[in-house]
Amino acid sequence: MDMDSSSTLITERLTLRRWTSSDTPFLFDLYSRPEVQRYIGRTPRMMADVSEVAPLLERWEALRSGMQGVWGVFDDEQPCGVVLLKPIPASGNREPSGDVEIGWHFHPDSWGRGYATEAAAAVLVAGFESGLDRIVAVTHRENVASQAVCRRLGMTHLGLSDRYYDTTCELFEALR
Ligand SMILES: CC(C)(COP(=O)(O)OP(=O)(O)OC[C@H]1O[C@@H](n2cnc3c(N)ncnc32)[C@H](O)[C@@H]1OP(=O)(O)O)[C@@H](O)C(=O)NCCC(=O)NCCS
Repeated sequence: MDMDSSSTLITERLTLRRWTSSDTPFLFDLYSRPEVQRYIGRTPRMMADVSEVAPLLERWEALRSGMQGVWGVFDDEQPCGVVLLKPIPASGNREPSGDVEIGWHFHPDSWGRGYATEAAAAVLVAGFESGLDRIVAVTHRENVASQAVCRRLGMTHLGLSDRYYDTTCELFEALR
């Protein structure tokens, strides 16, 4: 299976597919919110202008490879969040570390329904089916909601790590 324009992942309640430019208003709404950006990146930065979405979509397109890339998660046709599966940069040189990470960013209107866990579970399965042996997740130390997603997914908590992104994160892993 390949994450091309024709492929989607279907779960009990959700559809995961590629983002398109028609999803721009949702992505701007998502990434302009402090409660979404609070624990993302070393220095959280809210999107200030809708024009920032197009370059983001371009960066996401460049990440597409097999089942890796950035998925849009939809409840019927309503966008609710982002799940990514991509190479994770090492601390220091920011070169690819050799590991692949899974991550999730959901709109607050969609929190508390199990959507992030349901969508990420499907992406983990797809990642392993595509041949990956190990998938990691990193969260900000205080991001207990994201750590709970890792635990619900059955990922193993490996403790604090400074291996990635030039910062110290809680590290989780899932093995095939
Ligand atoms: C991290 C994030 C995705 C977690 O979202 P979430 O909604 O708490 O996670 P889930 O989708 O797994 O939902 C679990 C919640 O839904 C509830 N729930 C309701 N119906 C459910 C169902 N049918 N199945 C499973 N859980 C359900 C669970 O009880 C749980 O609620 P609780 O935490 O209050 O007990 C969200 O907080 C977010 O997007 N944050 C901003 C971005 C971010 O920080 N991303 C992570 C960077 S590392």
